[in-house]
Amino acid sequence: MTMLIKGGTVVTASDATRADVLIDGERIQAVGTGFGETDTVIDATGRYVMPGGIDVHTHMELPFGGTVSSDDFATGTEAAAWGGTTTIVDFAVQGHGEELSAALDRQLAKAGPKSHIDYGMHMIVREINDQVLRAMDAMIDRGVPSFKLFMAYPGVFMLGDGDIFRAMSRTADNGGLIMMHAENGGPIDVLVQRYLAEGKTAPINHGLTRPASMEGEATHRAIALAELAGVPVYIVHLSSREALNAVREGRDRGVPAYAETCPQYLYLSLDDLARPGFEGAKFVCSPPLRPADHQAELWQGLITDDLQVVATDHCPFDYKDQKILGKSDFSLIPNGLPAVEDRYTLLWDGGVAAGHISPMRFVELVATAPARMFGLLPRKGTIAAGSDADIVVFDPHARRTLSAATHHMRVDYSCYEGRTVRGLPEVVLQRGNVLVRDGKFHGTPGAGRFLERSRFGPG
Ligand code: URP
Ligand code: ZN
Ligand code: ZN
Repeated sequence: MTMLIKGGTVVTASDATRADVLIDGERIQAVGTGFGETDTVIDATGRYVMPGGIDVHTHMELPFGGTVSSDDFATGTEAAAWGGTTTIVDFAVQGHGEELSAALDRQLAKAGPKSHIDYGMHMIVREINDQVLRAMDAMIDRGVPSFKLFMAYPGVFMLGDGDIFRAMSRTADNGGLIMMHAENGGPIDVLVQRYLAEGKTAPINHGLTRPASMEGEATHRAIALAELAGVPVYIVHLSSREALNAVREGRDRGVPAYAETCPQYLYLSLDDLARPGFEGAKFVCSPPLRPADHQAELWQGLITDDLQVVATDHCPFDYKDQKILGKSDFSLIPNGLPAVEDRYTLLWDGGVAAGHISPMRFVELVATAPARMFGLLPRKGTIAAGSDADIVVFDPHARRTLSAATHHMRVDYSCYEGRTVRGLPEVVLQRGNVLVRDGKFHGTPGAGRFLERSRFGPG
């Protein structure tokens, strides 16, 4: 089967050119003009033709806080596709005392029969010993070269500095990448207990007990440990000015420190956590939403490349059935927000349409940089001969209103309810197959493939 995407503006991280895209089977055959007849033609006149989004931070079916995130790989990847994302990298979670390979098998078994789009895996490592360090090498051989560690959640996920340094030293030898949840969990937990003892149980206290200074401190420490180990480090879900400054300082003195931020930190704020009644629970995630004045600095970080990636940390929980677990104790509200469907358009709307970044920078942030850093380029993340035909035909002029009534994520609320955004992923292709067209979904559960990723490539 051949297909021509005709008459659009093809955007990559380096160019925006009027050109047609010729697809043969699953791959892009050529980008240019003057191609002959094909089996199918998609008219992209007045549209941008961009790589499918790559969201390197999702949690489908994640067990957390006595419940499980509400999107499975079927609903979550369908929602991703509607939003223009054609690849996710999700997380396998090591249980206490569990072999990393068993944790990976478990998450792959969940994803395999259900996923509509291609997916890779990172590994969440919750304990470090000689056997786990050896198992990290084996994970890399299975195409899982990135490991998330936590400086938060004592007794659950948190690792001490010695263990973090041991893991980083291992990646100096095996070429893996440490991804860090950088919040200092010790003092945070003391604050949480203090607030609860004082009867401060409402959702806003989630934000007040996880101060930005503790994210800044942990980010600085993670980068110092990586510098000592002589390895790159990737800070996940960076939310604050303090953490950004730590990344910037590290990069300025030549440390290969990288970071992602997420739409929630660019658009939402502590004021949302303070919404009346229990509404603030909808906005509980960690690190927490910050005062609104942090947002402009994060946008600046995206412009200056001190932040290289926008991912979602998609981890949805229903308001009525799941967030409610913390009705009388904010520390029991499951942490995480729905976002996988909204990332592409939100970043377009607030970034490109608002005049902060170019379409090329947009592509870099949502597709090319994540593909490069997480071992998927040139197969994914760009529009070039030989790459997978993962393509979004994007209408920049369409306006729509985000709402739980119309989104496809399996969650009963939207963090962006009522917000009007510019831009619509009108046609979405994965490996040449139409996933979204004419407002209809054409995907197949299980059609997504597991992506064995290569080692980290500098951003
Ligand atoms: O609140 C969050 N971020 N939930 C997902 C787990 C994590 O730490 O990324
Ligand atoms: Zn995290
Ligand atoms: Zn996460």
